[in-house]
Amino acid sequence: MVKIVLITGATSGFGKAIAIKFAQNGNNLIITGRRKELLDEVAKELVLSFNIEVLPRCFDIRKPEEVNEAIHTLPEKWKKIDILVNNAGLAVGLNPIHEGVLDDWERMLDTNVKGLLYMTRLVAPMMVARKKGHIINIGSIAGRELYPMGNVYCASKFAVDAITKGTRIDLLAHNIKVTQIAPGAAETEFSLVRFKGDKERADNFYQGYKPLTAEDVAEVVYYSTTLPDHVNINDLVLMPTAQANATYFHKK
Ligand SMILES: NC(=O)c1ccc[n+]([C@@H]2O[C@H](COP(=O)([O-])OP(=O)(O)OC[C@H]3O[C@@H](n4cnc5c(N)ncnc54)[C@H](OP(=O)(O)O)[C@@H]3O)[C@@H](O)[C@H]2O)c1
Repeated sequence: MVKIVLITGATSGFGKAIAIKFAQNGNNLIITGRRKELLDEVAKELVLSFNIEVLPRCFDIRKPEEVNEAIHTLPEKWKKIDILVNNAGLAVGLNPIHEGVLDDWERMLDTNVKGLLYMTRLVAPMMVARKKGHIINIGSIAGRELYPMGNVYCASKFAVDAITKGTRIDLLAHNIKVTQIAPGAAETEFSLVRFKGDKERADNFYQGYKPLTAEDVAEVVYYSTTLPDHVNINDLVLMPTAQANATYFHKK
């Protein structure tokens, strides 16, 4: 059955790979992000390659009025969202707590926690009304364990863990699946964003071991949506084989 899948943060990394994966399997997509040109490019590519329908929605997930506008103005048929992938997120900076940059903290908390909440608050009622749906939150190993200087990013992903569990409890009676996929190190634009455009530092993070790819994560996200109605993956931690936990890597 063709589904409507809404994926936040589909201009790069996991979100783009997740969009491709669902498109390959014939689903129609709503994709979001702030970089309009990239978003339109991804949408065009998906329509051409997979002959599906794609609705790009360009907005900043930190701004509730923009999120509201984007969701409330969806055409009626697009409001029947079957799967919401709350993926948009970022780490900014890597500082000890006493040297933290307030703007970095706000960007992380506003995007990873509040943005995810705004999306869920708007899409979940549509699922509740239809008595079906699947919400997939992208957490992180950083939401399970702290690492040096991870402080606020880790806190934001611990919050995603708590929100996922709370969402599952509250939506249980409405037949809505709620899943968290929590990856370890993956090579995307993530480190470039964290290190504020310092490509050498970002590339260095991925040296000496094989990190996850965005496609690895997309594969697992997609798999979690293929199980029978009575089966749900509550929580899945997906790591590179060369990474044991948040801090311990086997590097060559
Ligand atoms: N890569 C890793 O090692 C890793 C590991 C575990 C978890 N994660 C999590 O996975 C998710 C995706 O990250 P990624 O690795 O794929 O990084 P990425 O390549 O940097 O992608 C992040 C996506 O989020 C979107 N985004 C960021 N801020 C936004 C905002 N204010 N409004 C709307 N969209 C926004 C970006 O789009 P625009 O810039 O166009 O807005 C982009 O599409 C994040 O939640 C991240 O925390 C990553």
